[in-house]
Amino acid sequence: MTSSLLVLNGPNLNTLGLRQPEIYGHDTLADVEARARAAADAVGLTADCRQTNHEGEAIDWLHAARGQVAGIVINPGGWTHTSVALADALVIPEVPIIEVHLSNVYARESFRHVSYVSPIAAAVISGCGIDGYEFAVRRLARLIA
Ligand code: DQA
Repeated sequence: MTSSLLVLNGPNLNTLGLRQPEIYGHDTLADVEARARAAADAVGLTADCRQTNHEGEAIDWLHAARGQVAGIVINPGGWTHTSVALADALVIPEVPIIEVHLSNVYARESFRHVSYVSPIAAAVISGCGIDGYEFAVRRLARLIA
């Protein structure tokens, strides 16, 4: 049994800290990944942290994750609200998935209230900022124990 988690951030999340800080905060992607790694380390897991702006690359990573990871933390960014293909790929590893959003998507535009990922997620964490990644890792640790 692998002790690795995939922590996947989708499009535009490489600009965290610069992009709309009034919505997404001042933490950078490096801060998010450091928090996820520390949370994983604290529960005896490792976090393989990745970000891409390319949907096909994310899908390829999910295919490759099958048999290699015990769980997935994903912030799908805008793909949350648009991508059947990403949702289809997320089930391929057959491990628990936790969907994370820095902002509270339900307090924002109505198009952000729709998620293709939520129906296949074990949990959804929205509006907790960078803490959401830590909560997701801790919850996954419980689920896979
Ligand atoms: C986001 C929310 C999405 O609606 C948006 O497209 C993002 C970031 C969040 O973390 O709050 O890119 O996933």
